[in-house]
Amino acid sequence: MKEELGIKNCLYPMPVTLVGAEVAGKANFITMAHVGIMDLNSISMGMAKFHHTNGGIKENGTFGVSIPSVGMVQVTDYCGLVSGKKVDKSKLFDVFYGKLKTAPMIRECPINMECRLIQTVDFPKHDVFIG
Ligand SMILES: Cc1cc2nc3c(=O)[nH]c(=O)nc-3n(C[C@H](O)[C@H](O)[C@H](O)COP(=O)(O)O)c2cc1C
Repeated sequence: MKEELGIKNCLYPMPVTLVGAEVAGKANFITMAHVGIMDLNSISMGMAKFHHTNGGIKENGTFGVSIPSVGMVQVTDYCGLVSGKKVDKSKLFDVFYGKLKTAPMIRECPINMECRLIQTVDFPKHDVFIG
């Protein structure tokens, strides 16, 4: 028998990513699971508005999306538990930049994407960044 759960997003599990942005000239990383495919070259991210990272994405119009390996689970969790408002997360990784110059990416991660911000959708509590 099926149980009705009401209005609920059940699109789980999601892959966990580390999203990097330059905030006031310093790299900051946020753990992000709500990342989706828009088309073959574009992604979306639902980022709560109070996070530290949002300002950097809006300021530079760029962000990095890095996919951590299993061995990085601890540091990935850490980036999702502490805010760049209080803690410097710029030294946690070997950070590098690509062609966009302001999208921080992580050398330890097997896959990195540098993204240009195409559009921001203004949800009540989230910035939906499309890059
Ligand atoms: C596994 C995991 C997944 C997360 N996914 C999201 C997400 O998709 N969207 C979001 O707004 N916050 C998400 N968070 C919460 C942020 O990563 C967390 O609040 C972080 O400390 C914000 O960092 P910042 O203030 O430096 O930007 C997640 C946290 C964890 C641990």
